[in-house]
Amino acid sequence: MADLKTLAVLTGGGDAPGMNAAVRAVVRSALALGLRAHAVRRAYEGLVHGDIAELGARDVGGIIQRGGTVLQTARFPEFAEPEVQQEALRQLKAHGVDALVAIGGDGTMRGAAALHRLGFPVIGIPASIDNDVFGTDMAIGVDTALNTIVEAIDKLRDTASSHQRAFIVETMGRDCGHLALMSGVISGAEMTLIPERDVSAEEVAAAVSDAHTRGKTHAIVVVAEGARLGASALKEVLDRMNTGFESRVTILGHVQRGGSPSAWDRLIAARFGVIAAERLAKGESGVMVALKAREIVSVGLERVATRKRETDLEFYRMARMLAK
Ligand code: F6P
Repeated sequence: MADLKTLAVLTGGGDAPGMNAAVRAVVRSALALGLRAHAVRRAYEGLVHGDIAELGARDVGGIIQRGGTVLQTARFPEFAEPEVQQEALRQLKAHGVDALVAIGGDGTMRGAAALHRLGFPVIGIPASIDNDVFGTDMAIGVDTALNTIVEAIDKLRDTASSHQRAFIVETMGRDCGHLALMSGVISGAEMTLIPERDVSAEEVAAAVSDAHTRGKTHAIVVVAEGARLGASALKEVLDRMNTGFESRVTILGHVQRGGSPSAWDRLIAARFGVIAAERLAKGESGVMVALKAREIVSVGLERVATRKRETDLEFYRMARMLAK
């Protein structure tokens, strides 16, 4: 874009480890390209309230290793309303911002697509622990969340084995089973329940009972928060069907969103941030930068905004095979 002088960056939706590393990468790349960089605080809500300020290189120092987002974030469904979007445009212009980098999940990408439709230059960067953003193999934050889950399950297995118990572990992910499914594979769960694949409570009970019969000292069942069968309903059935194990439920909750980003998350945050700023400077807009195999590609925001990433059910088959 020939007349791009100032770009702004925001983080939206649920925070994800690595968002800060991405903010740092966007700001430092903008400065290296001779641009000015602005921060929008509190996502689209802050944007419509004009919560925008200039950032220098030092302002993003010491944040690469920090979880959460120093720009803060907000859920702001009102951004779907046309008059709210017009106010956002007015604020961007009033603050001299020529282009925006929006870092976040599917809701943030829908907001970015809306601004693009109104003619404002914008590029998205996927960041959400759920890994449900269409068009990218991985979003920022997924790897750290998976490491957090696996560490928690390893600890639960210690106590589960000591007491010969079955642990039902609920993971986040909204209506997407990616986090649960990957955790099931890498933590050696007996069963994994995800929204994309329906399983009856009786089937789960049979798998847990079978684990007991085969001499296992514990059983782990991972349940995605969006699975049809919830963790407490499942516990009732396991207890009623007498699987051989006493059962306990652990809901991991927001712990999964926090923590210092993993090496992988810092690396994709750096790559996404640099490439987003460079592509905006070259005049590209209306896209989200995305990881495809080892490459960083651009995916149209319109497609990202209207589709959902599909969970690879091959991992479901693999998890079942390895649980024997
Ligand atoms: O999108 C990230 C996520 O953590 C989901 O996994 C979860 O369903 C949701 O956000 C929780 O949102 P909140 O923090 O607003 O309760």
